[in-house]
Amino acid sequence: MFAEQAPHGGSSSDAPPFQLGLLGHGTVGGAFAQLLSERADEIERFNGRRPVICGVLTRSRGDFEQILAGADLLVEVIGGIEPARDYLLRALRAGKHVVSANKQLLSQHGEELFEAAREHDVRLRFEAAVAGAVPVVRVLEESLAATPIDRIHGIVNGTTNFILSEMTRGLSYAEALAEAQRIGYAEADPSDDVSGRDAAAKMAILARLAFGSPVHLDDVRYEGIERLHADDLEYARELGLGLKLIGTAERRDGGLSVHVHPTFLYGGHPLASISGPFNAVTVESETITELTLSGPGAGGRQTASAVLGDVVSVMTGGARPPAPPLALALVSDVSSAFYLHLDVEDVPGVLASVTRVLGEHDVSIKSVVQRGLAERARLVMVTHPVLESSLRAAVAEVDAFDFIRAPTRTIRVIEEEFT
Ligand SMILES: NC(=O)c1ccc[n+]([C@@H]2O[C@H](COP(=O)([O-])OP(=O)(O)OC[C@H]3O[C@@H](n4cnc5c(N)ncnc54)[C@H](OP(=O)(O)O)[C@@H]3O)[C@@H](O)[C@H]2O)c1
Repeated sequence: MFAEQAPHGGSSSDAPPFQLGLLGHGTVGGAFAQLLSERADEIERFNGRRPVICGVLTRSRGDFEQILAGADLLVEVIGGIEPARDYLLRALRAGKHVVSANKQLLSQHGEELFEAAREHDVRLRFEAAVAGAVPVVRVLEESLAATPIDRIHGIVNGTTNFILSEMTRGLSYAEALAEAQRIGYAEADPSDDVSGRDAAAKMAILARLAFGSPVHLDDVRYEGIERLHADDLEYARELGLGLKLIGTAERRDGGLSVHVHPTFLYGGHPLASISGPFNAVTVESETITELTLSGPGAGGRQTASAVLGDVVSVMTGGARPPAPPLALALVSDVSSAFYLHLDVEDVPGVLASVTRVLGEHDVSIKSVVQRGLAERARLVMVTHPVLESSLRAAVAEVDAFDFIRAPTRTIRVIEEEFT
């Protein structure tokens, strides 16, 4: 149990302590209280005020009204939508600053919270809601505030990145998931992670920051890693590709496209080398070419360090909440290169028939791998970029051939390498 006051008995300077109300005392909240007790002296030394915890709320202790009344800032590490949303709106409307690590809340009710913060002229910081300790929110809001961003790619879910890294070592999806659960990288119910929904929430937040347009979690198309086959990773290796769960937010045709999909990368892409439970985000702009940030995406102490960084940012007058949004149309039919995996009967003319149909739909082939397996064969191809609607139409036609043994598998491919 920690003291809900200055770790060393109070502020040594004349300035009054900076009072923090801590909502939630689990993995991140507990680590935050510990980190604060270690760092409060240093923060006071350069800031002039000492941050102290004036009250803690969990399900079994603390009184929200009392904590709110005594706090300059509320740290929300409860998670979920309610009661976190209600608490944060009440805090902002009461003129209190807020720091939150809550991606679900920000990706579904961000505009409501930003508006309340703007209206009451208080700070709302949320670095830990995206990519844990990786300071991508700050970089987008401040360092790149004057840079027109074209595209963001992110590995923003450490659980799935760990599972895919293990699958690349030869484990099946089930074995890799079991290993992630054994080590503690995956929850007993991993559905939010493996379905891509967690990454989608983070990409909605990043898209809002990078492009100034409101993006709700429901606007993000996402696909998870549950249906991936280990042999896709194997064939792709022969084509020089590695597999990641990639979130993409990009300007397309005057609008904005935000999606999360399993995606192949060539070895020269900055995200290709991010393995294990790490997170990384690549920002592309004509002005800066490419910039990549990477680091631990989760963990109590790592996340707490981002939360405490936000507290210090507020104490030093850091960035205001995002400006009111400018709505961009959401574009869903975007072009990409694709990996195709066809399970076919090993009979003459298969490749010619497939390439004819693909060609009729403007799908051109960049590389092909063929494998004979008794009377069956595998045809693995990577296409040049093509509109997704054209690719889907072509695959539907190919799958109607009698020689096709199973529905063709398709996975996006990022062509850029930046080498
Ligand atoms: N863990 C990570 O590595 C990580 C990384 C990045 C972001 N985050 C985000 O950080 C937030 C907290 O995650 P966590 O892992 O620390 O969660 P956690 O370990 O489950 O802790 C949640 C805390 O919130 C309290 N709480 C839950 N419902 C409450 C309610 N209705 N009223 C008051 N208190 C309530 C819990 O109280 P009890 O103690 O009474 O149960 C507990 O203290 C989430 O938004 C999560 O997405 C976590």
